[in-house]
Amino acid sequence: MEFKATVDPRAQQAAACAVIGVYDDGFLGEAARRVDTRIGGLAAKLYSARDFAGKLGDTLLLVRPTGAKSSRVLLVGLGAKRKFGPKQYRKALQATAQALFKTGATDAVIYLAMDAELDLDPYRRARAVAESFEAQGYRIPDLKSGPKPKPPRLRSVSLAMPDARAAKSAQQGLADGVAIAAGAAFSRDLANLPPNVCTPTYLGTRAIALGKEHRRVKVSVLGERQIKALKMGSFLAVARGSTEPPRLIVCEYRGAGAGTPPICLLGKGITFDSGGISLKDPPAMDEMKFDMSGAASVLGALRAVVEMQLPVNLVVIVATCENMPAGNAVKPADVVTTMSGQTVEVLNTDAEGRLILCDAITYSRRFKPAAVVDVATLTGACVIALGNHYSGLMSNDDALANEILAAGERAEDRAWRMPIGEDYAEQLKSNFADFANVGGREGGALTAATFLSKFATDLSWAHLDIAGTAWLGGAQKGSTGRPVALLADFLIERARRT
Ligand code: BES
Ligand code: MN
Ligand code: ZN
Repeated sequence: MEFKATVDPRAQQAAACAVIGVYDDGFLGEAARRVDTRIGGLAAKLYSARDFAGKLGDTLLLVRPTGAKSSRVLLVGLGAKRKFGPKQYRKALQATAQALFKTGATDAVIYLAMDAELDLDPYRRARAVAESFEAQGYRIPDLKSGPKPKPPRLRSVSLAMPDARAAKSAQQGLADGVAIAAGAAFSRDLANLPPNVCTPTYLGTRAIALGKEHRRVKVSVLGERQIKALKMGSFLAVARGSTEPPRLIVCEYRGAGAGTPPICLLGKGITFDSGGISLKDPPAMDEMKFDMSGAASVLGALRAVVEMQLPVNLVVIVATCENMPAGNAVKPADVVTTMSGQTVEVLNTDAEGRLILCDAITYSRRFKPAAVVDVATLTGACVIALGNHYSGLMSNDDALANEILAAGERAEDRAWRMPIGEDYAEQLKSNFADFANVGGREGGALTAATFLSKFATDLSWAHLDIAGTAWLGGAQKGSTGRPVALLADFLIERARRT
């Protein structure tokens, strides 16, 4: 889809479809009123006749209404004006895209952003349009036989703005929104692919391909021998039980001067988590193909950053392998030596994420990073604590944590901070090594993050536990693309500041 912001204060553009909002009290914004006046107040009449109540997310398509400049007018319910906020705005946009995709319209002009009674600047209004439309158009990689689904006919979207200044920031919002949506789609594709396709080797080739597309990205993919040479004993212990070889993927994006310390984004890339010798229960084990969502999201964020050409330096590090049981697999009571030199007693082979991430954190030190953020589907406990709405955030740096929380707010891809520290480290004591890799059921997300913090001393570090937010189960089973938008917003703000 192509998006453009246009200056159209009198709502007089012609398109295959014009989109206006209707609140549930019948109120129409200025642009909507102008469009409605031309069609003899049809929207107002439909409201009075109770044919369209303006309920949030409801839509009604008017075809060739007399007097209209466009061949269709789509009414979109906005719900209660009092309750209308960013969330409702996104819901209305989602409904708009869904309804438009069902029509034959190849282009549309949207008056919702201009009219919405909402505390969002034009940049944010526009970004939400691009993100929602693109997300609505997303399709899971098609592995079904039979006829291929047709892509939506909608090709071009014009976002009406009241003046040139608003249109200018809206244009920026549309561009960023498209880039972020492309990053999210990239991330969703990787996570949705089956684990017999999306292997560590496959992730490596996709990263290399991403690097080839863009001049400013350098990608290197390290294999088992090189990982051994780095002494990543903990990462290798997890990889050992699988016949799929592990990969350490390192992508360097240079958007700022050589002297600017980079942000490091680290991703957990377990392409299938069977639990290993501490085998998981069968129900929903298939969902453990999503255990590389952290890796997918940091690669997606890289994709977005590259497309936005942000003036930051970014290093994306993905540790990827399978966690499988085997005769030579790591087993409970094994003691492994991490790249940092610290030793770990593996009490549960299903707590494998922290074992690969701790070595990735240590590896990130060579880049002298300004900040390190790891992203991981780390614990079931985080899903119990926060459900599917907030990602868990743990950090050893209050300023960094606040930046990430704020980015999540702005992007509407929220995180919630949770505690770590010495109280929780008590649970990780081992008689046989520096730490155990599990700390019992109580505060499982917090002991996991505290474990990671032991490898992040003197770094400005944060950890996002996305176990609850990265994918949905049930009928809507599939990757959400979270937290690509959060990460992108965090980096946009860093770029602005430095
Ligand atoms: N990948 C899982 C975490 C997970 C579980 C994410 C369910 C989403 C849904 C992780 O590797 C894991 O197995 N964690 C264990 C840790 C436990 C053994 C301390 C868990 O959460 O059960
Ligand atoms: Mn596991
Ligand atoms: Zn896992």
